[in-house]
Amino acid sequence: MGFNNWNAFGCDVNAALIKETADIFVSSGLKDAGYQYVNIDDCWSARERGADGRLVPDPVKFPDGIKGVADYIHAKGLKLGIYGDAGTKTCAGYPGSLGHEEVDAQTWADWGVDYLKYDNCNNQSDGSQADYVRRYTAMRAAIDATGRSMVYSICEWGTSQPWLWAEGIGDLWRTTGDISDSWSSIRSIIRQNAPLAPYAGPGHWNDPDMLEVGNGGMSATEYRSHMSMWAMMAAPLIIGTDLRQASAQTLSILGNREVIAIDQDRLGVQASVVSDSGGLMVLDKPLAGGDRAIALYNSTDSLAVVSVAAGDTGLARAGAYRLRDVWTGDTLQARSTISAGVPAHGTVVYRVRPLRDPSATAPAVAVGAELGTVVPGPAGGGTLTTTVTNRGAGAIHDLDVSTKVPAGWTATPTEIVTSAATGGGGAVVGGHRRERLATDATLETTWAIGVPADTPAGRYPITVTAAYRWGPRHRAATTSSEIVAVVVNAPADGRRHLSTLSPVTSVNATGPVELDQSNGGPLENDGSLITVGGAVHTRGLGTTAASEITYYLGGRCSKLVTDAGIDDTAGAGDTATFSVYADDTLAATSGSVATGQAAKTLTADLTGAAWLRLVTTSGSAAAVRTDWANPVLTCGGVPDDSPVLPQSQTLFSFESGTDGFTIANPGDGGTVAQSPLFHTDGAAGLKVATPAGGNWFGRALSAPLDLTGKTMLKFDVQAGDIGTVGEIAIQVGDAMSWCQGGFWAWTNPHSSRTITERFDQISCPAGVTLDPSAIRAVWVFLNSGGEVYIDNLRAE
Ligand code: GLA
Repeated sequence: MGFNNWNAFGCDVNAALIKETADIFVSSGLKDAGYQYVNIDDCWSARERGADGRLVPDPVKFPDGIKGVADYIHAKGLKLGIYGDAGTKTCAGYPGSLGHEEVDAQTWADWGVDYLKYDNCNNQSDGSQADYVRRYTAMRAAIDATGRSMVYSICEWGTSQPWLWAEGIGDLWRTTGDISDSWSSIRSIIRQNAPLAPYAGPGHWNDPDMLEVGNGGMSATEYRSHMSMWAMMAAPLIIGTDLRQASAQTLSILGNREVIAIDQDRLGVQASVVSDSGGLMVLDKPLAGGDRAIALYNSTDSLAVVSVAAGDTGLARAGAYRLRDVWTGDTLQARSTISAGVPAHGTVVYRVRPLRDPSATAPAVAVGAELGTVVPGPAGGGTLTTTVTNRGAGAIHDLDVSTKVPAGWTATPTEIVTSAATGGGGAVVGGHRRERLATDATLETTWAIGVPADTPAGRYPITVTAAYRWGPRHRAATTSSEIVAVVVNAPADGRRHLSTLSPVTSVNATGPVELDQSNGGPLENDGSLITVGGAVHTRGLGTTAASEITYYLGGRCSKLVTDAGIDDTAGAGDTATFSVYADDTLAATSGSVATGQAAKTLTADLTGAAWLRLVTTSGSAAAVRTDWANPVLTCGGVPDDSPVLPQSQTLFSFESGTDGFTIANPGDGGTVAQSPLFHTDGAAGLKVATPAGGNWFGRALSAPLDLTGKTMLKFDVQAGDIGTVGEIAIQVGDAMSWCQGGFWAWTNPHSSRTITERFDQISCPAGVTLDPSAIRAVWVFLNSGGEVYIDNLRAE
């Protein structure tokens, strides 16, 4: 447990920040809660080693050296961590430790360092596991040789499956790429790290990366899920936010003692996955003393009831169970099923133990709700179904279900209750009441939801509350769940890339529907550029048949034109059919198409349709990678030749040569040449030979480039035999100030993708603002150590 500056500060680290963080550890109670290590990440050193071959702390950032900071930290009863890299340079280009292991470990030991995070950039590796073992073992041996004990944190992003070899070498190892402050990152990391439970244990932990709690990109519900699941996965809890600015809510999430106790439990077992289906996961973690932590995790975008039979967990057989909710502090009882209504992106964590006499403890009641997409206006509305299930031992009485909708909306119970009660009895009173609900019985109610005609598209909360009485003394209680109503509006006028519109629903055989790339597998963003019959497309939807995507058109659109075909990465002999539906009418179909065939162009008349539906069906036994390439939707009767939005401005297409591209740091090497082998426009792109440490490729411009009105830069990349990062930098103003994206977007060997950096993701030096009307140079960073192909550098 500790802190690391990277997630909140990147390279902007210095002694004051590290010391102030240590002060806050003490003053805020985080130290007492167990947080101990204060860790410095990349960019702490000078750009060159000293004359004696040793690493040198940056004298401006660390005026008293690292030793001075270590002494300060130690005086507070805390420990200090540092960062190094098993390559020639760190990820940010500072000296790496490859070949310098002994002197660097000794230097850190001399300074009093207690923890080393050891990264993997610029690693000169042949990619073999043997090479990873060799590089990371060399530093283990070097640390041991110093005689100082240090926690050794292996950070090679899961690349060589360290869980298979690093026990006994590292104390912890990263299992994934870098975390970011977004729900999709958290969800993807949980998906990758949770199945690795068998490899973790005391002294050899899976590390799903540092905490983002408090950094602003997620809701409190999402941050509690992040913290909950890290605790269930027995993960290191390394705070990654600016504690000097942290809100009371952030501190209460990071400092929740009951959650920390689950993470730090003496048994050191990572929770096992009991069930995992449809984005709902149940985890079960044994705790010292016999309790178990049970997490009900809902990664989907809507409320869900998540349940597990006690008998499917490690819990001992019992007549009832006591559930302690570690976030709300509520204590409840359940007969035999542990269940709760869990909000979208939420996690309920119970500490559970057998309960002999449940009569004095409130029953666990799960409130669920489902609501399709809601269309505003008299012809629209939606249907809400609510369920109330009594999971307690003993019936509940006088149950009354109510809903709270946004102002101006209506909710009317329409359907007579369909009771799924197994031991029910008792009469139905009205549409949403019941006198008695037995253990494991459910009351289901259907409601008509009305939405005012002018309601803008968006997400609106609806609260469903069950009020009831329980136990021999008829005590009153309520349980509520919040469901989010998604209101859709028809698309605005214009011709638009369909991949820039939000679908209302999407179902896909494997993983999510991908935007502007093919469907690579179960993870998000794991495809390549859509490629059909050798033609590469930068826009489209990557699906795997059987798939179905729906969009709301509200009768305002006239036409969809799209190419359709099987992705070139699909299996030989795969076949599939593409169909476009305007409401329930088949508006266009491809017939059966096969792998390797050129895409077919489909034109669908959508006049008057409320809904657009894109369907692919597999003609083979297996799921088939089906691409909707370059789909363009026309709405509002605009002419066929109006520009397709968002409009793209090509900056460099490499059609007539290298477009003047050069390398930024000639000493570091690299060459460029025009090449027909990869192109996403025209007939040619740029082949770039890159040094392993990377270089910037691009050019200064003869006249300032005015990109006013544009919001982002993009280029397409295809990696050769070795993967590469891709990053964009620009120089602005007469001073040619260097503004850099700071992204390390990675592309796998032989994969392709579009690299995007929005202007608001590119940061300039202090005092310089990114003026899009005064761009003086454009650069892309590539570092495969081999050949990389790029094309079509553009602004959008
Ligand atoms: C890599 C690591 C990050 C961080 C940066 C620093 O990306 O995975 O956690 O240390 O390097 O450059």
